[in-house]
Amino acid sequence: MTTIRLPGLIDPHVHLREPGAVHKEDFDSGTAAALAGGFTCVLDMPNNQPPITDAATLAAKRAAARAKARCDYGFYLGAGTDNVATAAGLAAQVVGLKLYLDQTYGPLRLDALSSLIEHAERWPRERPMAVHAEGRNIAAAILVAQLTGARLHICHVSRADEIDLIRRARDRGLEVTCEATPHHLFLTAADAAAIGAGRAEVRPRLADARDRAALRAHLAVIDCFATDHAPHTLAEKDGDNPPPGFPGLETALPLYLALVHEGLLTLDELIARTVHNPRRIFGLPAQLDTWIEVDPDAEWVARGEAMCTRARWTPFEGWRMRGRVTRVVLRGQLAYENGKVLAPPGSGREVLTNQETNSHQEKENG
Ligand code: DOR
Ligand code: ZN
Ligand code: ZN
Repeated sequence: MTTIRLPGLIDPHVHLREPGAVHKEDFDSGTAAALAGGFTCVLDMPNNQPPITDAATLAAKRAAARAKARCDYGFYLGAGTDNVATAAGLAAQVVGLKLYLDQTYGPLRLDALSSLIEHAERWPRERPMAVHAEGRNIAAAILVAQLTGARLHICHVSRADEIDLIRRARDRGLEVTCEATPHHLFLTAADAAAIGAGRAEVRPRLADARDRAALRAHLAVIDCFATDHAPHTLAEKDGDNPPPGFPGLETALPLYLALVHEGLLTLDELIARTVHNPRRIFGLPAQLDTWIEVDPDAEWVARGEAMCTRARWTPFEGWRMRGRVTRVVLRGQLAYENGKVLAPPGSGREVLTNQETNSHQEKENG
C-alpha cells in the first residue's frame, strides 16, 4: 500500500444541525464524519433552529461545538431582514455572513433586494458574504457586490449558465469566488430514480448532463470544493415532505480524487480547492502539525450504514470509490486511523479569524 500525505482538508460548507436538529446530526457525529472523510476543519452554516443571527444564538452554537466537536470549525452568521447592524458587529467572530436568496431548508431567507443591499453595505468589506443564490439571483448578487465593494462567495454553483456568468465576471476582473459540490460534479437529475425521489431532493436541484459537463469544463473558475453536507434522516427523506440535502463528508475525497484520476485536475489543483483557497477566502489560520494520509488506490464501496454521519445514508450508495483516508493527524494528535475516529468530543477548536478574539479564547482555554 502506498500512501500519500496531504494537508488536512477544509470543507467551507457544512450543516451540522446543532442546535435544533441533533436527531439529524450534531457536532460530535458531524465532526466524526468530517475526520473520517479527511477534513480537519469545517465551516458550519447558520440555518439552525433557531437561526444563528445574533450574539445569543451564536454563543449557544459555540458552546455546543466547544463541548462536542472533534475537528476544528468556524461559524457563519445568518443574514436576516432585521439583523443588519447586529450581524456587522459580530463579523470578527465568524468566518462569513450567509445570505439565503433562494428557498431551501429552514426559514432563514432574504427575499427583498433591499435587504441584500443593506447587508452588503454594512458587512465589513474584507469579510466574505456567502450566498445561496440560483440563476438570476447570482447576477443580482454579483452586481450588488460590485456596487458596494462587498466580497462575494457564491455557494454550490450547479448550472451551465451560472458558471458561465461567473466566468464572465472573473474575465472582467471581478473578485467573486465560488464553490461546487461533489453531487453537482457527479450526479444529474437522471440519477434521481436510482437514488429515490425523496432522497434525491437537494437545493440547488440536481441538474442535467450539460450542466454537469459545464462545471467540469470550468474547474479553473471554481475556487473551492464544498460538500454542502446537509444530513436528514432516512425517515424524513423517504417521508411525505422530504427535506432537501445530502450528507457528503464521507464520500467527498474519493470523488474529488476521481477528477484527478480522470485527468481534469492535478493533485495540486485539488489541494488548492480543498485547502489553500478556502483558507485564503475565509481568512483561516494554518492548522499546525496537521495532515492526512490517503491510499489513493484503495477501492471500497460506499455504504451509508457504515458511516459516521447520524444520517447514515448517502446518494452514492453502492458506488465504487477509489481513494481512502487511512490516518488523520490534527494538531499533532492522531485523530483518525483506519476506520476509527480517535479524537474525542471537545478536542476540536474554533478557527477564529480575528486576532483579538483568538487571544481571548486562548486565555480562556488556559
Ligand atoms: O439541499 C440543501 N439542504 N440545500 C441547502 O441550501 C440547505 C441544506 C440543508 O440545510 O438541509
Ligand atoms: Zn445552500
Ligand atoms: Zn448548504
